[in-house]
Amino acid sequence: MNLNDTIEHWLTSTQKSLSPANRPFVTLSYAQSLDGSIALRSSEPMALSGNESLRLTHQLRSMHDGILVGIGTVLSDDPQLNVRHWTGNNPQPIVLDSQLRMPSDARLRQCSEKPCWILTTQESEWPNQNGIEICQSQPGSDGRVCLKNALALLYEKGIRHLMVEGGAHVITAFLKEQLVDAIVITLVPRIVGGYKAVGDLEINARVDLPAINPFHSERLGDDLILWGTLDYRKGVE
Ligand SMILES: NC(=O)c1ccc[n+]([C@@H]2O[C@H](COP(=O)([O-])OP(=O)(O)OC[C@H]3O[C@@H](n4cnc5c(N)ncnc54)[C@H](OP(=O)(O)O)[C@@H]3O)[C@@H](O)[C@H]2O)c1
Repeated sequence: MNLNDTIEHWLTSTQKSLSPANRPFVTLSYAQSLDGSIALRSSEPMALSGNESLRLTHQLRSMHDGILVGIGTVLSDDPQLNVRHWTGNNPQPIVLDSQLRMPSDARLRQCSEKPCWILTTQESEWPNQNGIEICQSQPGSDGRVCLKNALALLYEKGIRHLMVEGGAHVITAFLKEQLVDAIVITLVPRIVGGYKAVGDLEINARVDLPAINPFHSERLGDDLILWGTLDYRKGVE
């Protein structure tokens, strides 16, 4: 079995065996350098992964009903979040955008097949709603979209399998809230010294660190793919 088949088989069976109550199964997937950078600077796009890993990312996208990024990624990368380097269905694009900062010319607004869902805390009407659907959600204690409420809303709207692609604020927030079920990381053999994937999770003891268990790794082209399920039980070695 090649790596694409191995990961597809693993993810399908994990999605079946682990079904969280009233929220989608969440797969976190991103590319990082050896030092944990996902970009050189926070507001700049940086292509890190090789062609084979990029194909794997698009395969993963096709295995999810929804794909979510933060507005920071939209503002810096202007992503399309569709399946181009693999044959499969496009997931529903979803953006966490508390303050409705999505630009009117964003590429995500140009997809007629699936208007992008904007998860926001704002009640105000948006002047230009072309290519988007506003999904109002409750704010968390920091005033941003509350992830637990947002996931419950996505579940109600039919999203059962959600892929979270970044960027760093969103990765950190999902990990902090223990909302990541599975992780697939592309580790790129570069040292960037840039913008790191994971920020402060406010964990003080080793015993409280989430573990990847079971943990798998395999080379794909020049990159290393690391994958597994998150285990938040205290004291997992
Ligand atoms: N290497 C990779 O695989 C990869 C993947 C994706 C992105 N990136 C890179 O990551 C960088 C962007 O990352 P970023 O950290 O600046 O932005 P981000 O994580 O994409 O978006 C963060 C923004 O999302 C909004 N948000 C709403 N609710 C939130 C919540 N509950 N928790 C966290 N954020 C919430 C916040 O803005 P509001 O308060 O306005 O809502 C927040 O500032 C870019 O350089 C991009 O190229 C790399």
